[in-house]
Amino acid sequence: MVKKLFPQVDGFVHGGDYNPEQWLDRPDILEEDVRMMKKAGVNCVTLGVFSWAVYEPEEGQFTFDWLEEIVDRLYENGIYFILATPSGARPAWLDEKYPEAMRVSDRGVRNHHGVRHNHCMTSPIYREKVAILDRKLSEKFGHHPGFLMFHISNEFGGECYCDACAEKFRGFVKEMFHGDVRALNHAWWTTFWSHCYQSFDQVEPPYANGERSVMGLNLAWRRFTSANTIDFMKAEINAVREATPEAMVTTNFMWLFGGLDYHEMAKELDVISWDSYPRFGNDSESFAETMGDTAFEHSLMRSMKKDRPFMLMESTPSLVNWHDYNKLKRPGMHRISCLQAVACGSDTVQYFQWRKGRGAFEQYHGAVIDHLGTDDTRVFREVREVSDDLEKIKGALGSLPKNRVAILFDWDNRWAINDMMGLSKHTKNYETTCVNLYKDLLSLGVDADVIPVTEDLGVYDLVFAPMLYLLKPGMADRLKAYVSQGGRLVATYLTGYVDEQTLCYLGGFPGDGLSELFGVISEEIDTLYPKDRNGMRFADGSVWEVQDYAEILRLQDAKVLASYTGDFYKDQPALTVKDYGKGKAYYVAARGSRAQQTIYLKKLLAACQIPMQELPDGVEYHERYLGDTCYAFYLNVSDQEVFIPHIEGENLINGSSIYGTMRLAPFEAGVLCK
Ligand code: GLA
Ligand code: ZN
Repeated sequence: MVKKLFPQVDGFVHGGDYNPEQWLDRPDILEEDVRMMKKAGVNCVTLGVFSWAVYEPEEGQFTFDWLEEIVDRLYENGIYFILATPSGARPAWLDEKYPEAMRVSDRGVRNHHGVRHNHCMTSPIYREKVAILDRKLSEKFGHHPGFLMFHISNEFGGECYCDACAEKFRGFVKEMFHGDVRALNHAWWTTFWSHCYQSFDQVEPPYANGERSVMGLNLAWRRFTSANTIDFMKAEINAVREATPEAMVTTNFMWLFGGLDYHEMAKELDVISWDSYPRFGNDSESFAETMGDTAFEHSLMRSMKKDRPFMLMESTPSLVNWHDYNKLKRPGMHRISCLQAVACGSDTVQYFQWRKGRGAFEQYHGAVIDHLGTDDTRVFREVREVSDDLEKIKGALGSLPKNRVAILFDWDNRWAINDMMGLSKHTKNYETTCVNLYKDLLSLGVDADVIPVTEDLGVYDLVFAPMLYLLKPGMADRLKAYVSQGGRLVATYLTGYVDEQTLCYLGGFPGDGLSELFGVISEEIDTLYPKDRNGMRFADGSVWEVQDYAEILRLQDAKVLASYTGDFYKDQPALTVKDYGKGKAYYVAARGSRAQQTIYLKKLLAACQIPMQELPDGVEYHERYLGDTCYAFYLNVSDQEVFIPHIEGENLINGSSIYGTMRLAPFEAGVLCK
């Protein structure tokens, strides 16, 4: 069934953040905005992200007329709106009167008023003030014909160490251990360094100048911060839904942001949306490499709700102002990056922002309309081109990817890995390991979903579980069930070391029964210096270079596919497989070099009968399906002309018919409907 996010909008949503409250004394500019939006092909704007001080200039004094006028005019001109709740930044009167709304740092010091995203998520008065305004906004605007959805707050993140948060944290921990302090002491191994708790009242957040040596505590704090933010967000959702129970809600995620468990957050949202600000190539990486990172992020986002498209809520049409070096997107980069989002499953292309703010922090951030103020700029023309592209492929609206391969990605796991004391401070790289795996699969024409560990694995032919260090309850059994029913699973070094509280498994890693699934026990793990190299030699003589980490295995009943080439564990197993039920469980005991990862992936994909494609360097391939109709996206993300063989059909982007070879200019895309 076609799942269009916004049936009332004809085509992809194309637009972005619009801050008319900064221009209320310039009605000429506000009029001009609408004219130029239409010319740019903008059909939706996001309003009110930071408008609190204008809505409520003094406590309890509300003004919404200015916005009513604007949304009416937009709608008359065919432009819809997404309405944000303005809780991302607070007016000065609020902090002056209620300082407890301001966040407290990890040294226990209260912030001063200013910037944004710096509130205490626990503070009752802050929650109350937000809820009052949220209710009013949904009453006023939630029934407007131009209204599409609520955008809850903005880029949630950060933590607060105030007394109220500390108290709430104690309650959270107490509940986690059902009030049994002995269970806490056991799970967190607090006899170590005499850190036992006699009562839950003694539990404190991990202050920078306090207790940071208990891994279970650190992880609990991260879980709490995430849960408390989600709780705050839910309170906002409830408030806006009082007047508009049917309204859709989203909040804008940020790439691989580590501060919140987005998988948990996603459960409360109707649609996933996110803000993408990659570097578009830099000193050490090509544009194609950084585009690969973004493709991973798109996949992570879309895989949180696989039954509907996601939204690219923000991106820049030209440049940002907060990178170390704020280089312009070269001509063509904007167009191809928008098409990449769509190729990966987005039904929207949105920007930060429509018009540059004249002063303050973001005055030099890219926007569709520059301080120059005209519609004849390079950036404006490229935005218009995007809108034309979207029109040409609008048949793909509501279509969804259908991937056979998945990569597991988990916040608890990344928190636990990044916090563990051991290995190296510099090379653990859980996130990069997952991203590089995704990119190398993509280079073979295989798009993968990046899924939560709790997801149903049965729909995939091949599942990668890179560095699955922490096992959630039931995880090991689910992996076993998946393989025994015919799934192919690939795990790596650092699998199954700890349980959900970070206590090590006894009796051999991978723990919780997984050594039986893989037929190996990892007895030791070697951390290599940056210059050290080893290798894994396969039966055909090929060698995959090893760096960073190598586990020494006790072989139980697995078959050895590759052995180490050097060091004191030379000739011992490095890559194994075990037939388990109807499936296969692979164990890759060492980190193979990125440069040669595709050598091994090709062998694996061939063994698992996953079709690959020969693509020229710098070409990404993604598919979206609408029933049996497949929209095939070929993206040339390189600055070279490329030729892609074996193509037949019409390129919807330029209307050309292709028999045999498709030529794509630098940054050009071909979209075929098959
Ligand atoms: C974030 C915010 C926006 C804006 C952009 C600038 O994504 O949500 O308000 O500050 O960054 O890149
Ligand atoms: Zn607080």
